[in-house]
Amino acid sequence: MTRRVTVEGVGGYLPARILTNKEMETIVDTTDEWIQERSGIEQRHIAAEGELTSDLGVEAAKNALEHAGIQPEEIDLIIVATTTPDLTFPSTAAIIQHKLGIKGGAAFDIQAVCTGFVYAISTAEKFLASGQFSKALVIGAETFSRILDWEDRSTCVLFGDGAGAMILSAEEANAPGSRGIMSSYLRCDGALTDLLYVDGGVSKTQTTGHVKMQGNKVFREAVAKISSAMEEAAKIADIDPKTIDWFVPHQANIRILKGVAKKLSLRPDQVVATIAKHGNTSAASIPLAFNVAVKDGRIKKGDLVMLEAMGGGLTWGAALLEY
Ligand code: ACO
Repeated sequence: MTRRVTVEGVGGYLPARILTNKEMETIVDTTDEWIQERSGIEQRHIAAEGELTSDLGVEAAKNALEHAGIQPEEIDLIIVATTTPDLTFPSTAAIIQHKLGIKGGAAFDIQAVCTGFVYAISTAEKFLASGQFSKALVIGAETFSRILDWEDRSTCVLFGDGAGAMILSAEEANAPGSRGIMSSYLRCDGALTDLLYVDGGVSKTQTTGHVKMQGNKVFREAVAKISSAMEEAAKIADIDPKTIDWFVPHQANIRILKGVAKKLSLRPDQVVATIAKHGNTSAASIPLAFNVAVKDGRIKKGDLVMLEAMGGGLTWGAALLEY
């Protein structure tokens, strides 16, 4: 039985503490001007001491459940995209399941760094379309501030903490309404690991490690890889990219966003850009941006929305959906 997978609700959460570029100038040798010009970032949010990735995820999930108008117990699948889990195990998804009071169903994490949310909704869509589960809570949640080297100006100014969530629901393929998730396209090239990685881990160092990035090399890979993933996702869905209403990209760098939009002939006003307000929140950035554009009335029911991301791995991918 083929089923259709639609978006029932979206949510987002940013920790209260805001760290501005001006404050960054007191931490590392940088300037507000450099950060804004090179990345488009004005500020980022930082989780409070003791505030965990699961706590951010729970807040985003509650926000999405309220938006969808459903109760937590209706959820039978939880997927959390994160690179900064509370613990090595159990999964952050299991912790969030318990904090939301959900019993039953399945819960697991996905690790694809900044591409995590695209990997996660693609995975959820397959489970829901097959009939194995009926309602999924998909979360992107990160406390990236905890794996930053706060003495490395080339990375610490770029990232922030936050969480976003999406409720996906399966319906009969011929039911009236939105076409939902129409396609996804996922890729990884492990040969490019050295461009972006964390220099610690359970097996190798028994430490958490810090983000290492050859930013300009990642930048050079980004536009071509992301654009081709979006073209592939449009082709799979048999959609002319010109008919896309909204572009909700991973918020890594405003220059990458603009470059990709231009390559696909999308107008600047079709790009949902929230990077200025929260920086790169890794797997959380797509659902955070999606949430903003739905709640401020830009993305409406029936609109075609393209999502894309690239991150450590390198991983990259795109997904096309009708909201
Ligand atoms: N403040 C001031 N100067 C700085 C800073 C800073 N915070 N950081 C670096 N610089 C300096 C460098 O030292 C360099 O100086 P030099 O010319 O004297 O050597 C100069 O600025 C230029 O550095 P570049 O790295 O070449 O700058 P670039 O224009 O490439 O911008 C950036 C850097 C913003 C990191 C950009 O390359 C980028 O966004 N890359 C892609 C990041 C990305 O998409 N990552 C993937 C997702 S993240 C994930 O998966 C976890």
